[in-house]
Amino acid sequence: MRPLDLTDATVLVTGASSGLGVEFAHRLAALGADLVLVARRADRLTEVAAQVGAAHGVTVTTIGMDLTGEQPGAQLKRDLDERGITLTGLINNAGFGHSGALHQVDAETIAEMVRLNVDTLTDLTTTFLPQLRASGRGILVNVASLAAFQPNPGLAVYGATKAYVLNLSQALWEENRAAGLRVLALCPGPAKTEFFEVAGESAGAGLPRMEPSDVVEAAMKALARRTPPPYVVPGVANTAMAQTTKRLLPTRVVAGAVGAMMRRGGGA
Ligand SMILES: NC(=O)c1ccc[n+]([C@@H]2O[C@H](COP(=O)([O-])OP(=O)(O)OC[C@H]3O[C@@H](n4cnc5c(N)ncnc54)[C@H](OP(=O)(O)O)[C@@H]3O)[C@@H](O)[C@H]2O)c1
Repeated sequence: MRPLDLTDATVLVTGASSGLGVEFAHRLAALGADLVLVARRADRLTEVAAQVGAAHGVTVTTIGMDLTGEQPGAQLKRDLDERGITLTGLINNAGFGHSGALHQVDAETIAEMVRLNVDTLTDLTTTFLPQLRASGRGILVNVASLAAFQPNPGLAVYGATKAYVLNLSQALWEENRAAGLRVLALCPGPAKTEFFEVAGESAGAGLPRMEPSDVVEAAMKALARRTPPPYVVPGVANTAMAQTTKRLLPTRVVAGAVGAMMRRGGGA
């Protein structure tokens, strides 16, 4: 592939009002990309846009919207078309978790999580793939999770949504290579963001939490490789855990161990 070049690029980042999304905004802008930042909290987006614009001199557009609404991709595309904005990059980062055994948690929250983590991500990807491919040097980052590699009692549906994201991204990696589109699934372990305020503290299963800047750094390094990998797991310990649960241990052992970690962390 051609070297990663984000000068004159325009990248849309979902979930850019906190956590990993804010880090992506800074890192991409530092490499010269104009940005479109999307999340529900418009006031937060405005603050991030002001900081990023001042630090890096790029153009930042903010769109406050709930991405679990009807046809978010079509709605965003209409908005961007009206503003004359064509995307060369998409960071599907917005997502949330909800801990607890499935029979004990709120069904509407679970449905909303599947809508955001799966339906919205798929809808935005499908909508903007033609633009990303047409640029000949596009990037598509789908934020999955370390939870994508194994069953996750206590976070069952969340883990399943992220397994979907990882699987989808790996297929898209192959489908779009010839078009020069870098597709990467980012699979972080626990990181110091607002994720746990939403998902519940037990969702971290007692594991150490990485700095968001280190998580995004791992994604940017992977993207910059001449042949970017289909996915990256930031952190040596997390990488070892993903490989072990994926390749070495029987599913019943992994499910039991993760369930025990979640219970120790106060989860299901
Ligand atoms: N932190 C971790 O430990 C961890 C580990 C693995 C994977 N991840 C994944 O990393 C991604 C980013 O999460 P984070 O850790 O940075 O957590 P975060 O700080 O809670 O950020 C989540 C972002 O998603 C946005 N969002 C949530 N619901 C939305 C909706 N309905 N419409 C539009 N935007 C919405 C939030 O913005 P508003 O509230 O303003 O809408 C926020 O900007 C998620 O996909 C998460 O699953 C996180």
